[in-house]
Amino acid sequence: MPVKIITKISLCQKHVDSLRKQGRTIGLVPTMGALHEGHLSLVKKARGENDTVVVSIFVNPAQFGPGEDYKKYPRAFAGDKKLCEKEKVDIVFCPAAGEMYPGKDLTAVNVEGLTDKLCGRSRTGHFKGVCTVVSKLFNIVKPHTAYFGQKDYQQFLVIRKMARDMNFHLKLRMCPTVREGDGLALSSRNRCLSPKERTEARCLHRALESARYLIKTKRVSGAGLIISRMKAIINEQPGARVDYINICDPETLEDVKSVKGKVLVGLAVFVGKTRLIDNVVIS
Ligand code: PAF
Repeated sequence: MPVKIITKISLCQKHVDSLRKQGRTIGLVPTMGALHEGHLSLVKKARGENDTVVVSIFVNPAQFGPGEDYKKYPRAFAGDKKLCEKEKVDIVFCPAAGEMYPGKDLTAVNVEGLTDKLCGRSRTGHFKGVCTVVSKLFNIVKPHTAYFGQKDYQQFLVIRKMARDMNFHLKLRMCPTVREGDGLALSSRNRCLSPKERTEARCLHRALESARYLIKTKRVSGAGLIISRMKAIINEQPGARVDYINICDPETLEDVKSVKGKVLVGLAVFVGKTRLIDNVVIS
């Protein structure tokens, strides 16, 4: 069966309503397209757990700030469609921006607290855009379960809080980060890296692994010292610039001073003009 492409909200809602009436379960994988193996791992998980799999492809203008890479964000619809067909996705929901945001005054969904840390510090308004679009997608696709990657760990926590606070009746799954052979986390933005930048981008994983080593071997427990070691690894690369490195509580995202128990080590690094994020949870 070829994948069904739906661009209109009302058609999507009608279609999923009828599937729900037939008792079929719906799994949603929300994406901004330029699909890679990370997305496909979410699709595979959704395929194994649901009767119907919907992939949404929408580069959401509301989650990009002024001067960010909305215009340059990779778009690859033809390839995405082929991958969805191969993975037996049932529906690709790919609305135009005007369909999702028809007017200029937008009702927005804002989660407080979790959103002013890590990525929220340098991307003001980003999570408001994410929560707004994801809540719209939940109302349009009406999934029983939605699937997200651990690479966007903070995004997952924020969406989980939004879903609880707004009483969305669905399950959320966080699936492991998928990595290249050299450890670089898969990301649609990796397509923006030049070959030299791609090599330099290995420093994100190297820095995270050095944190893991220092914590696991109990060599260092002060978060400040671990962060300095990580910064030194990243600064060895002439094209890399740290946006943030945080060691924090994996539930509240509050920074910790010294590592006891489980922590999230998260970072964002510009490699050239491309901002990449990654994280590990270490117990
Ligand atoms: O993670 C992403 O690709 C996006 O932030 C999402 C969840 C699809 C919302 O636009």
